[in-house]
Amino acid sequence: MVNAVPSSHESPFLAACRGEEPSRTPVWFMRQAGRSLPEYKTARGDTSMLEACRTPELVCEITMQPVRRHGVDAAVFFSDIVVPLAAIGVGIEIVPGVGPVVAEPFATEADVKRLRNLDPCDVPYITEAVGLLGKELGSTPLIGFAGAPFTLASYLVEGGPSRDHAKTKALMKSRPDVWHALASRLAAICGEFLRVQVDAGANAVQLFDSWAGALSEADYREFALPHSTAALAGVAESVPRIHFGVGTGHLLEAMAETGAEISGVDFRTPLDEAAKRLPGKVLQGNLDPALILADDAALIAETDKVVAAGRAAKGHIFNLGHGVLPYSDPAKLKLVVDRVHETTTR
Ligand code: CP3
Repeated sequence: MVNAVPSSHESPFLAACRGEEPSRTPVWFMRQAGRSLPEYKTARGDTSMLEACRTPELVCEITMQPVRRHGVDAAVFFSDIVVPLAAIGVGIEIVPGVGPVVAEPFATEADVKRLRNLDPCDVPYITEAVGLLGKELGSTPLIGFAGAPFTLASYLVEGGPSRDHAKTKALMKSRPDVWHALASRLAAICGEFLRVQVDAGANAVQLFDSWAGALSEADYREFALPHSTAALAGVAESVPRIHFGVGTGHLLEAMAETGAEISGVDFRTPLDEAAKRLPGKVLQGNLDPALILADDAALIAETDKVVAAGRAAKGHIFNLGHGVLPYSDPAKLKLVVDRVHETTTR
């Protein structure tokens, strides 16, 4: 367990999550740990991604790296959305430059039975790594995470990353019974994976439904929303919950119905527009990750625009509109953190 949960006073991130006035606009970046940092490449060496996720000392070190280097207001636990699936015996690998690849893709009722419930004993390394981080982080909060049932199901059904999610959508429509059985098992696994992190001391969670933007609103409501709601219910009332997807401008209201306290907004929807559509919600986002490659003047101007648009919301957590690109210059990320802090400290 972490020694002490940081208070809102100590943590601008937790204050913003709770809809209170933070001492400054908090900043963190999705994928802040990882390939943009030379010290990450050194720490990983030739350890495979999944092996790294199962090594608590390495997870602790990699999670800490962006906190030390950038002075971000929250750490995001170094792991991956497919870690709980690998932990229950699904044959899955993370192939560098590709993403998760499943040895035997899922298609039938019999395949659904290959998913058993996650038990905390399946992931002792998660509990241990979160515990180590509690000691290292001091007053900086830790964000735990999981992949949402739709995004995980897409990897299982497609067998790997997919642009059109065609097999997944075909399964939903042809065999809604199989789809719902698959997604509800995944929801139980996600909920448990979040609970393990919170029980070990994570101060907030984020549910990544990265590929939900591929669905129409009607299909999202029928095939994804109930399962994401169930996954998030696992940690309701214990910690603030952030919910994020890419290309989900048309789904903002529907995604907010999962009950998450904070809505992640990708870079395509301005935060002031999102604030009008989601009155009373705390928003997270949404600088376009590509702009980290722009020159300093343009980057600062775009950062200021996001900060200004965020003022329309009840609360704002500054982030990118998707993950840090691997070839980003870490110095530019630090420039953004410093700019947000300088212009918002009260
Ligand atoms: O945000 C963080 O800093 C925490 C760590 C984190 C990772 N994956 C580490 C990782 C988080 C939050 C994730 C979530 C994740 N994983 C998502 C949702 C977020 C998103 O980007 O939409 C998705 C879709 C995955 C699946 C996945 N895992 C992909 C697409 C990849 C990239 C494959 C590649 O090589 O381009 C991975 C591997 C992965 N997960 C890496 C990292 C740092 C790269 C591994 C490496 O260093 O070789």
